[in-house]
Amino acid sequence: HLRHIIPLDFSSLPSLPDSHAWSLSNDDYNNNTFPFNDDDDASSSSIPMIDLMDPNAMHLIGHACETWGAFQLKNHGIPFGLIEGVEQEAKNLFSLPTQQKLKALRSPGAATGYGRAQISPFFPSFMWHEGFTIIGSPSHHAKKIWPTDFQHFCDLIEKYEKQMKILAERLTKMALELLEISEEKRKWVGGNNISGAVQLNFYPSCPEPKRAMGLAPHTDTSLFTILHQTQTTGLQIFKEGKGWVPVHPNPNTLVVNTGDLLHIMSNARFRCALHRVTVNRSRKRYSVAYFYSPPIDYVLSPLNVHSAARFRAVTVKEYFSIKAKKFGEALSLIST
Ligand code: SIN
Ligand code: FE2
Repeated sequence: HLRHIIPLDFSSLPSLPDSHAWSLSNDDYNNNTFPFNDDDDASSSSIPMIDLMDPNAMHLIGHACETWGAFQLKNHGIPFGLIEGVEQEAKNLFSLPTQQKLKALRSPGAATGYGRAQISPFFPSFMWHEGFTIIGSPSHHAKKIWPTDFQHFCDLIEKYEKQMKILAERLTKMALELLEISEEKRKWVGGNNISGAVQLNFYPSCPEPKRAMGLAPHTDTSLFTILHQTQTTGLQIFKEGKGWVPVHPNPNTLVVNTGDLLHIMSNARFRCALHRVTVNRSRKRYSVAYFYSPPIDYVLSPLNVHSAARFRAVTVKEYFSIKAKKFGEALSLIST
């Protein structure tokens, strides 16, 4: 547990501390050795770009979820100013002195607040990353950081959460329609009990980027994740036959990836994208992720299966707790 409370003040170090060095054997885990082979996407060098205003958007999204588990989305309807505002708040937050950020340090076992990547305990080395996790209102933590000055941050984050929820609902309705899920079983979409979270990420510039890791390979414990990344490369998605594929930043574009929950609900028809983040020698990188999941007591099970169910039924809450304990094995633990 000590690993969680070691101060995160590493960003100004002149060289990479051993604690943050990733060795070759870590890289084995990254599975970066697949030969290039020709699959149906051999011509596209990265995840698809989809225009949400395209009348065919639903089918394009379905295809992207089946092949990559990720896509870039333009004309998504989220006001540019709002995204820019949240990005600026993230920059302000992470540029504060460490002591001030540590006032909102995530307590052991808690989900929200400032700290290391939540996946840190499952990896042998530290990541070159700081994060701030928000579920619902950020005011509890924001007040600790800015005792008198927290309102602007809170207002923006809450506005962002609302807009992201609406976008996630649009995407979820499309996914469930493609899966031919009955109206009855789609009723939760649009309700107020859904599980949503906002994650602000900061990847400082790094003296030895090749030996460091921004965020280790993982799949998200969400249904959909919607990500805003700044104009600095780093995000990569793993694709069989291609290896690690960079997701190049595009202005006014959000990155969407499917998470474990959609993979389960679709009986593995939709992927859950394995992704990681690399770091840069001279550029800082920021990102803002929104995680969207059904209500905590919603029973996840492969819906409308034409073939045998590949996963047993679990509630969202049960799956979250399996993932929190077993991380990389969570999906196989609920496999039938
Ligand atoms: C994440 O995987 O949660 C963050 C991705 C990113 O920073 O691009
Ligand atoms: Fe992620």
